[in-house]
Amino acid sequence: MKRTGLWGLLWLASLAANGETGQPPDPASVAAGERLYSQHCVACHGERGAGEAPIPPTIRAPGYLAAMPLDETSHAWHHSDEQLVETIMEGLRRTDRMPPRKGLLSQAEARQLVAYIKSLWSPRIIACQGPAHMRCM
Ligand code: HEC
Repeated sequence: MKRTGLWGLLWLASLAANGETGQPPDPASVAAGERLYSQHCVACHGERGAGEAPIPPTIRAPGYLAAMPLDETSHAWHHSDEQLVETIMEGLRRTDRMPPRKGLLSQAEARQLVAYIKSLWSPRIIACQGPAHMRCM
């Protein structure tokens, strides 16, 4: 089918551009990433990326968003490895609550965090990561 062919091409192009997107993480990086996660991320994103409880109405404010799950129940897996690294390093424009880690973490450490996050996903979700998620929904 023409449409499938196009998505296939986009997917291949994204693989070339994004390096290891769609590949399972290596165990040494996962272990290092897990340690970093427990220092820098667990307070908001929860144990094993389960996500944060809803923000109580008393402190609700525009841009004060709850930290979504990073396991496969939300949409972290819609992003390529590169995009996840960028989010970790640069933070997110839509909320001040996702703090930029540039200066605190190296690029290599951000990659280890991505490896840990990916270890929370099943092989099916890893195969559907990034632009490929359009084919898998
Ligand atoms: C102070 C709370 C807080 C901390 C600490 C925090 N985050 Fe976040 N994070 C957020 C919020 C809030 C969002 C955006 C929620 C939204 O857009 O609905 C977010 C979004 C993200 C996203 C985007 C996910 C997606 O599906 O688009 C990623 C990836 C992420 N965080 C990873 C991390 C990692 C890795 C760490 C540790 C280095 C971390 N965060 C630390 C609050 C936090």
